[in-house]
Parts: sequence; C-alpha cells; structure tokens
Amino acid sequence: MVKIAVLASGRGSNFQAIIDSIENGYIKNAGLDILITDNKEAFAIKRAEKHGIDSVCLDPAKSGSKDEYFAGIAEMLSVRGIGLIALAGFMRIVRRPLINVFRNKIINIHPALLPAFPGLHGQRQALDYGVKLAGCTVHFVDEGMDTGPIIIQAAVPVFSDDSESSLSERILGYEHRIYPYAIRLFVEGRIEIMGRKVVIRDEEKELSNIMNPPPDVK
Ligand code: GRF
Repeated sequence: MVKIAVLASGRGSNFQAIIDSIENGYIKNAGLDILITDNKEAFAIKRAEKHGIDSVCLDPAKSGSKDEYFAGIAEMLSVRGIGLIALAGFMRIVRRPLINVFRNKIINIHPALLPAFPGLHGQRQALDYGVKLAGCTVHFVDEGMDTGPIIIQAAVPVFSDDSESSLSERILGYEHRIYPYAIRLFVEGRIEIMGRKVVIRDEEKELSNIMNPPPDVK
C-alpha cells in the first residue's frame, strides 16, 4: 500500500482525477493520505473534504525561509510514511530539503511537451511559439525547473483558431489521463530510472490505453 500526498495550489482537477482513479480501482494498493496546499482558497481543499481526505494549508509566509518551508513538509510527510508525492498544480518550486528526503518519489504534471516550454504558462508559450503539437508531461522532480526524468507524455494538436483556454482544455483532458497512469506505474513498481531515462515495464499495452479519449473530469 503506497501512501500518496498531493500538493496543490488551486482548482485541483488533476487531484480529482487521482481521487477518482483510486476510488474506481484503476490505481490499486494506494491511498490518498493528505493534501497539502499553500493557499487556503484552493478548491482542491473542498475536493479533499468531499472525499474524506486530510488536508492542511501551510502558509509560506509563516514558515521562515523557503528551505524551512519544504523541510517542514518533508518532516510531516516522513512521519506519515508517504511513499509518493504528486504535485498537481502546486505553484512553487520544490526545494532541496524535500527533494533530498523524497528523491525519485516526487512527480509533477506539466502542461507542455518538455523539454519545450518549462515554467509558467506552458500552453501560452506553445501558442506564442507557433508549434502544431502541444501536450503534457509527467516527470520526476529534481532540482531544476521541470527538468527531471520523463515518465509519460501525451500530445494534442494545436489549431489555428486556438486560444490559450481552448488549448489548455484540450491538454487538460490528457493530463487527467496520463497522471493517474503514471501513478499506477509507480505504485505497481513498474518504473525504473536509469540516468535521464525512465524505463517502464509492460508498457505497450498501457500506452495503447492512453490513446483512448480522455475521461471527462471537471
Ligand atoms: C495543470 O494544467 C497542470 O498541468 C499544471 O497546473 C494545472 C493545474 O490544474 N501544473 P488543476 O489544479 O489540476 O486543475
């Protein structure tokens, strides 16, 4: 049984996709232990309440330095026996005191095809650049900005009449698909990191699954 902590700052639709995937048995042998947010207004908190998941809001302004903030999170999650930390729209750069304690156990979803368009507003960056394929990436978190080993990606077309919001919505549908998939791979012990590369056991069958239309998670 892998205990999962989710860190989120806002809407939490990816958090919801993870909740649903555990509740409907897509991800087995895992439980959502706690939601940590840095924003007391985060809608993710309401989702946690609705599903009986503990949540805590940690205000960075009351936590000393950035390193102290993440050291506090590391301590809390260690005590709870967390085996996987999933960042889901967490609007802060995770720092070493957390990364060192949970090395290769922190994953993130990013709304672009990394290594293109890291950082904020990946979808807008893709539109502004004029690419014809955009998408999303689940990757391990290292000390860089969206630079860790890539677990899985999904691509979507960019159309000439796309706005930031229409493209974001198209990408989001696939985020909700690949994030639970990546968590399932992790929980099932099917992921091995070899340098920059992530090797996935029994991958093909699952990959064909993610090409199906994404479920409608709001
Ligand atoms: C998603 O687009 C995710 O890729 C990015 O932040 C957004 C969070 O959305 N990291 P939500 O809070 O999960 O709905």
